[in-house]
Amino acid sequence: MKKIGIGHNKGGVGKTTFCFCLGGAFAEMDKRVLMVDMEQRGSLSSPFAKNINDIPCVITDVLPDDRGPTKTVVHKTDFENIDPVPANLTLGRLENDLISERDSHYCLADKFTEIEGQYDVILLDAPSNLGLATRSVLTASEGVIIPLEAQDYSVKRTGYLDTVIQKVRKRGNPSLTVLGYVTNRATTGGDRSSRISSR
Ligand SMILES: Nc1ncnc2c1ncn2[C@@H]1O[C@H](COP(=O)(O)OP(=O)(O)OP(=O)(O)O)[C@@H](O)[C@H]1O
Ligand SMILES: [Mg+2]
Repeated sequence: MKKIGIGHNKGGVGKTTFCFCLGGAFAEMDKRVLMVDMEQRGSLSSPFAKNINDIPCVITDVLPDDRGPTKTVVHKTDFENIDPVPANLTLGRLENDLISERDSHYCLADKFTEIEGQYDVILLDAPSNLGLATRSVLTASEGVIIPLEAQDYSVKRTGYLDTVIQKVRKRGNPSLTVLGYVTNRATTGGDRSSRISSR
């Protein structure tokens, strides 16, 4: 069971789009995919639900882990091989909910031990900040994929993410690897974006 986080602290770089497409590609390869949304707008969950704020069971219902078993937030859909774990606005209270937990960033990782072996791949979509949700994704993942746009700002911001990755490696998940940087929405031609992309 591979656990792959998708993260970048710059918004709108294509994290969720990449996560969704990667999940689809794995599913087509007959892999059983669990897609975990860790973003409070529920962008990854939206294709699976009419209104994400009406979904009865979302990730926050099992964090911290004494609230309920992981399977209660795993939804079944018409998408063969893909099960989503949705999120919605309730994720906004994550930091508050987990404040009393000493190792709050481990809570998400712990939830996957309950479903060990049921999936080939778990994909975790992080939000565009470096708060607890992102740290939880990095702690729960074996590898992280970093989508970015071919712009100075997008590339520079990976520095902050790298710092958090190093901290997570030191404190919670020493084997966390950066699986790759994915250049998204690059324009072709001799402009600045394509020069950055080619570096
Ligand atoms: N390769 C692409 N070509 C065109 N549009 C794209 C591409 N990748 C993403 N988009 C569009 O860009 C917007 C932002 O993408 P997405 O929501 O995946 O980014 P994100 O990094 O997850 O954003 P956030 O940080 O807000 O969670 C969406 O409207 C998406 O459809
Ligand atoms: Mg997103």
